[in-house]
Amino acid sequence: MGNIQLNGDTKLFGIIGHPIKHTLSPVMQNAAFQELGIKATYVPFPVGVDNLETVLKTLPQMGVSGVNITVPHKQAALTLMDTISEEAKKICAINTVLFKGNKLHGHNTDGIGFIRSLEEKGINPKGKNALVLGAGGAARAVAVALADAGVKELYLYNRTRERADLLSQHIDHHFTYCSPHVLEDHQIRSKEDLEHIDIVVNATTLGLNPSDPIPVSPIFFKKGTLFYDLIYHGETNWIQVAKQSKMEVLNGLSMLVHQGALSFEFWTGKPAPVETMQTALEKYLCRSEN
Ligand SMILES: NC(=O)c1ccc[n+]([C@@H]2O[C@H](COP(=O)([O-])OP(=O)(O)OC[C@H]3O[C@@H](n4cnc5c(N)ncnc54)[C@H](OP(=O)(O)O)[C@@H]3O)[C@@H](O)[C@H]2O)c1
Repeated sequence: MGNIQLNGDTKLFGIIGHPIKHTLSPVMQNAAFQELGIKATYVPFPVGVDNLETVLKTLPQMGVSGVNITVPHKQAALTLMDTISEEAKKICAINTVLFKGNKLHGHNTDGIGFIRSLEEKGINPKGKNALVLGAGGAARAVAVALADAGVKELYLYNRTRERADLLSQHIDHHFTYCSPHVLEDHQIRSKEDLEHIDIVVNATTLGLNPSDPIPVSPIFFKKGTLFYDLIYHGETNWIQVAKQSKMEVLNGLSMLVHQGALSFEFWTGKPAPVETMQTALEKYLCRSEN
């Protein structure tokens, strides 16, 4: 797996967001290009909200082939696409753009990436009761994916109740067979309300800082419930406490890899080398955490 020489034939991909300094996507996408011998490179583009439209219109003219879109642009990008995939329409956000000529084709791989990360562990959410904590971009993709996958009951909880209500209405509108329940503050401290949950997903930013409180205590859940933290940097306190309480646990690394692999496939039309991407990330995180 040698380094690819950059020259006039090299295809260019990237990620647009703000802040973007800590993105891990270049690590896994460049590893994938190298593994398959594709003459391409992937770089971060720091782009503020005021410049999103100009940048998205300019990049294809500069020969860029595709980009990922991250915080804070995922929803704003939706209005700037020429075509939008069914998946992106369902989530109402874009995380992947393919440039063809001057046309922008928008897609979203977060939800399928999340489901693939479950499938990889032999977990099928169909018929299960799931609780999603948070109502931001990640929670939206996960909640929509769970509704799409046929969960039995979907519960939502967010610090700002109105945002959970909006997400619930969105899902209710798009999926005739799924009508989410928005939990009140007292309900996420109640065994009666939580002990039938099979999968709980932390899609809040709680845990990014080691001094953060845990989003919900495992004491209210039955043993063996899956505690899935979307944070991908090692083990959060929440995951550690859940393990001590005999819960199943998963962190966000696998979702990160799968959403990236699906973006790679959308751009290149080739099967992504998922293992290579995962190993590149694990090695990088191991180096940066030591
Ligand atoms: N593994 C992956 O592939 C992947 C992909 C995307 C995101 N993520 C992770 O998912 C998390 C959420 O990302 P996002 O893009 O959805 O962020 P976001 O859009 O900014 O949403 C943040 C969410 O966290 C909640 N929150 C923030 N501070 C809180 C606090 N002190 N107490 C309770 N809730 C709080 C917010 O609630 P309010 O509405 O009340 O503000 C909101 O629901 C991040 O940790 C991110 O790293 C992982």
